[in-house]
Amino acid sequence: MPFRPRYTGLIERYRDRLPVNDDTRLISLGEGNTPLIRLENIPDLLGKDIELYVKYEGLNPTGSFKDRGMTMAVTKAVEQGSQAIICASTGNTSASAAAYASRAGITAFVLIPDGKIAQGKLAQAMMHGSVIIQIKGNFDEGMQLVKEVAEHAPVTIVNSINPFRLQGQKTAAFEIVEELGRAPDYHCLPVGNAGNITAHWIGYCEYSNGGDKPITEACAFCAGEGHCRFASGAIVSQRPTMVGYQAAGSAPFIQGSMVDNPETVATAIRIGHPQSWDYAWKVQKESGGWFDACSDEEILKAQKMLAEKEGVFCEPASATSLAGAMRDIQNGKIAEGSTVVCTLTGHGLKDPDTAIKQSTSPLLTIEPRLDQVKKAIEENMAG
Ligand code: F0G
Repeated sequence: MPFRPRYTGLIERYRDRLPVNDDTRLISLGEGNTPLIRLENIPDLLGKDIELYVKYEGLNPTGSFKDRGMTMAVTKAVEQGSQAIICASTGNTSASAAAYASRAGITAFVLIPDGKIAQGKLAQAMMHGSVIIQIKGNFDEGMQLVKEVAEHAPVTIVNSINPFRLQGQKTAAFEIVEELGRAPDYHCLPVGNAGNITAHWIGYCEYSNGGDKPITEACAFCAGEGHCRFASGAIVSQRPTMVGYQAAGSAPFIQGSMVDNPETVATAIRIGHPQSWDYAWKVQKESGGWFDACSDEEILKAQKMLAEKEGVFCEPASATSLAGAMRDIQNGKIAEGSTVVCTLTGHGLKDPDTAIKQSTSPLLTIEPRLDQVKKAIEENMAG
């Protein structure tokens, strides 16, 4: 039997496209290489001829796409001699920062909005031994504080304003192009800070030669850093239309201006002042894409539908990409015959409370007797 080399993470895999050298100590937990799952039942339910995929980023080591960026950010922080990292977070960044810091043997300080992060994420930050600072405010206020404190204290910011984060996250686009043998026609993502949609666009640009959408400002994102191999990296001719969906109560890109008191059940994207504001507008313009909002009801409905009809469990924020895509497939904005990828940014287990609260699955309690189990089966057999 031929042996396959052990997968050791995305930096190793895409070493020639990332800012590392042979001496760099890689801080990795085997992140990346996540499944691109073709949906089999939802397109039928929509009654549309569509090739619809989900990129299940919830299967990264800490259960979210943040690990792609964190392996790079922490690797570079360690390379540069940093002893501590810091982030503001709606939960997933803090979980990831905590895990990679423990792997590296450095300290992670995480600022989270008090009472507004999902249980699973809090558990992760606590288990990995980070210093958890709960603030009586929201993510945007935490982000502001992090930026200010990093000017005075010897800590490296690992939010997505750290350019190495986006470099790591761009690899998700590489994986998709490699698996499909082309770029999808549409790539749909949930948008909070807008780092991930920006990172994907960087990846798609590096892997294309422009094709039908000429690149006007190639490499603008990595300008000056000297590691973008865009010119030599063209492997496909097209790039996708990028579509960003926000939760209706936290939708600065749809409103066209910052939102001061964001609210949504999708706490991961409860963000009113996106850090990658300018970048994301550029992505929208260059790709010919759009932003739109989904209500909390639509988000939860998509999350449940995906879990019930396809067996894929993502957290509420992640389902925003699918909620929006389903709507735009239905209304024809996303044309029939298209290939569409929706990123599922985080695992459903991150937020068990919201899942249990909205579930309508029969939850039966019986005496431990055969007749009672038989009755439960008879009464609940489908069809
Ligand atoms: N989905 C999930 C599950 C997230 O955790 C986030 C961001 C996003 C989508 C949005 O990605 O910010 O790049 O547009 N979570 C950050 C955090 C803010 O702190 O965990 P984005």
